[in-house]
Amino acid sequence: MFGKAMSIRGKAGLIQLKPFAKEEIACARVCGMFSDHEVTRYTLMQHSPSISDEEKFWERTSEDKDSRVWGVYLDESPLIGITSIRIDIPNHMGSTGFMLYDKSFWRKGIASTSHLARTHYAVEFLDLKSITSGVISPNTGSRKALQSVGYFITGYKLGQLYRNGVYRHHVDLQWIRPGYENLILADGIPEELSSRAKEAILTAEKALQRAKVEVKF
Ligand SMILES: CC(C)(COP(=O)(O)OP(=O)(O)OC[C@H]1O[C@@H](n2cnc3c(N)ncnc32)[C@H](O)[C@@H]1OP(=O)(O)O)[C@@H](O)C(=O)NCCC(=O)NCCS
Repeated sequence: MFGKAMSIRGKAGLIQLKPFAKEEIACARVCGMFSDHEVTRYTLMQHSPSISDEEKFWERTSEDKDSRVWGVYLDESPLIGITSIRIDIPNHMGSTGFMLYDKSFWRKGIASTSHLARTHYAVEFLDLKSITSGVISPNTGSRKALQSVGYFITGYKLGQLYRNGVYRHHVDLQWIRPGYENLILADGIPEELSSRAKEAILTAEKALQRAKVEVKF
């Protein structure tokens, strides 16, 4: 299903996360961008989707009660990307994904700022206590954008993805909701992660405070 429309001002302009129409994603423009290896090289997407693949994606998305999906827009732009939370309600957890498939919008702070709004929604609408995500190394932009709102690296799955002749590591990240550390980490935390987790939870606290003021519905 789609999430509620939200907006937040970033350094490049007004970022909007909102539902999108089937024709906005199932079109030659978007499929053309998905066929660019630079756009999908650090994602699970190995093939170039057809318009019909994107129509099916939109249909699955709009019916899937266990996920919230948004289109990403900057000012008056067309759809430039998508972001999502997959919800695991019994465990109060979620897992997230993000993709800006229009390369002309990269490195403008759109991922970092969108993550603020998505994390705000995860807390205020879904009451999630913990969120996992992952990046394929060396996707520095994706890792830094997640870390900017309080995700931290918890581990690696080595040589998980074979892309363009090279095996890439999968880097696991997690976000823990401030105030729920004792609950989520009741089993303790490996020593090597302890200071990283503490620092990240402080970052998460600041991110949520900022989001509370800046995210508009
Ligand atoms: C990776 C991606 C999400 C980054 O989005 P973005 O809006 O460009 O990221 P931001 O502008 O918020 O940048 C976040 C940080 O990463 C840095 N960064 C962004 N792209 C980078 C790159 N290619 N190399 C190094 N650093 C990069 C930024 O400078 C910024 O650093 P700062 O916090 O120190 O200022 C976007 O490029 C993308 O969608 N790529 C294709 C699909 C993809 O890889 N999705 C992620 C799957 S996990």
